[in-house]
Amino acid sequence: MCGIMGYIGGQQAWDIVLSGLKRLEYRGYDSAGVVTLSERKLRLARQVGHISALEKAQPEPLAGSIGIGHTRWATHGGVSVKNCHPHRDSSERVAIVHNGIIDNMEALRAQLCAEGVTFRSETDSEILAELVGRGLARGLALLEAVREAMRQIEGTAGIVAIDRDDPELLVAARIGSPVVIGLGDDECWVASDPLALRPFTDRMVILDDGEIAAIFAGSFRTVDLDQRDRDKRVEKILHQPEEAERGDYEHFMLKEIHEQPRAIDRSMRGRLDVSMGSSILGGLKSHEQQLFDVKNVVFFGCGTSLYSAQVGAYLMSRYARVPCVAEDAAELAVRNPIVERSTLYVAISQSGETADTLSALREIRQRGGLVAGITNVVGSSLARETAFGTYVHAGPEISVCSTKAFTAQVLATELLSLRFARMRDLSASEGRAWALALQELPDKLKLMLEQAGACEELARRFAGHRFTMFVGRGANVPVAAEGALKLKEIAYVPAEGMSGAAMKHGPLALIEPGMPVWALVPPDETRERMIGNLRELKARGAFIMAVADLGDKEVRELVDRVIPMPSHHAAVSPILNAVPLQLFAYYSARHLGYDIDKPRNLAKSVTVM
Ligand code: AGP
Repeated sequence: MCGIMGYIGGQQAWDIVLSGLKRLEYRGYDSAGVVTLSERKLRLARQVGHISALEKAQPEPLAGSIGIGHTRWATHGGVSVKNCHPHRDSSERVAIVHNGIIDNMEALRAQLCAEGVTFRSETDSEILAELVGRGLARGLALLEAVREAMRQIEGTAGIVAIDRDDPELLVAARIGSPVVIGLGDDECWVASDPLALRPFTDRMVILDDGEIAAIFAGSFRTVDLDQRDRDKRVEKILHQPEEAERGDYEHFMLKEIHEQPRAIDRSMRGRLDVSMGSSILGGLKSHEQQLFDVKNVVFFGCGTSLYSAQVGAYLMSRYARVPCVAEDAAELAVRNPIVERSTLYVAISQSGETADTLSALREIRQRGGLVAGITNVVGSSLARETAFGTYVHAGPEISVCSTKAFTAQVLATELLSLRFARMRDLSASEGRAWALALQELPDKLKLMLEQAGACEELARRFAGHRFTMFVGRGANVPVAAEGALKLKEIAYVPAEGMSGAAMKHGPLALIEPGMPVWALVPPDETRERMIGNLRELKARGAFIMAVADLGDKEVRELVDRVIPMPSHHAAVSPILNAVPLQLFAYYSARHLGYDIDKPRNLAKSVTVM
């Protein structure tokens, strides 16, 4: 949450910082601001609203070839200009941008107020600016002043600081919140995400927790909180700049929905061994023996990633016969978890930066648990802090509303479950059938995408309906919940997703004539029971939209619309079923005129707990 960007070099900082902030806007978009430095003056522009509002408020570029900027998702203090970053210390010598939360804010603020400081904002970040400013006033260099300030705070902070009296230096630091430095020949960039750096460079350095970097035009130096020098590895930014562009699509979400065949194909490349009926996950190789001995698996994540974890838990138990559950990472982290050596814990997160997921994985590791990771973002905290794991390679996901990451994460759990199943008692022929079904997924996803027109028509009919229900059984219960989440998140329609079986225990009371209900009815072992649930819904007058086999006459007669799905292996139906629900949510939000890629009150990476 919150995007930070900085530049130092020979070009105009304003344009570069704004361009980086635009790429980071998915991290927070309630206000934005930039500081540049020229002629020993900090030049500041801040505005409430999107970055376009800042550009409108400040049409002339701020002068200077060094600058920092921020796009905010408010935590401490309301959405107002005074709370916008960058924040300055009371002597106006230093300006900082900050992503994170200072937990001991009250104590620090009280102490500084007692020393006579008057704060201009309600934010925790201004405290950090003040602490750095005080260090400078005592004669410390900026690197030292930031290091001292970082030692005083508890909580999380990714920051970049600029000193009015030193036009040749930016200082960045990281505790908990990501910071990456982009390297050029005679310029450098710093940001909270490599996405912002990629148009400028493909070389980056990722700061680790407790590191502070002095960044010059074309070079940098890193120390830790105890002032020891740190050697850093230069890494390559793998995605191409245009992958994070919207192209001809009206919204990133639509682009990302349509990218799924390619994303799944890329995700699978080199990872299927059809002849052996198994999967090959490179990241797991070094741990094969340990995996063989695993007795239980726990997948965990938040939001959409939790739903992909739930699909994974079903597949792992059903096909690999390994007891497996999915846990909400936020709850797992705080409930004193029982961690067992024979259990494999798998953290799932698109961004790899979700605070609740990281906190759960740290707690499990702390107790000696073996934690693997499934993530989309190369070099993310999750990737760095897990013993091993797999990247889903879905490509940058910009829309706050996750789509291709969901299907790619489910795919990763399929590959893992297939491997586990083949290490245990799944026969080679059963494994081959599953592997083949995975291989055919990109083409089948294309067929699902051909239903966009039908989904749009249904969305037009029901957009803004006061309630929508989603039901499924087995592996598709979490897909139903995911469908409801999409609709709530971007179209602001109250919705619930659940097992068809759960309806009669209460939610059926919500059904009234004409109420839209999505039903996931693949032709597998769950079908018979779903048919029973469809009858219950029909009897109460629901308008049922079913994702089902077109040849299924019984379903056709029971429901109002069928979105056809191609024939498939039962294990892959969650990936196919997700698509029409994504499209329905997208077109509902579009019809209602909402800001689809930036839904209200949300941000992409939830880096606060
Ligand atoms: C889904 O559309 C979300 N925006 C949200 O639920 C998201 O999946 C969740 O915050 C977890 O994010 P992560 O995958 O980056 O950890």
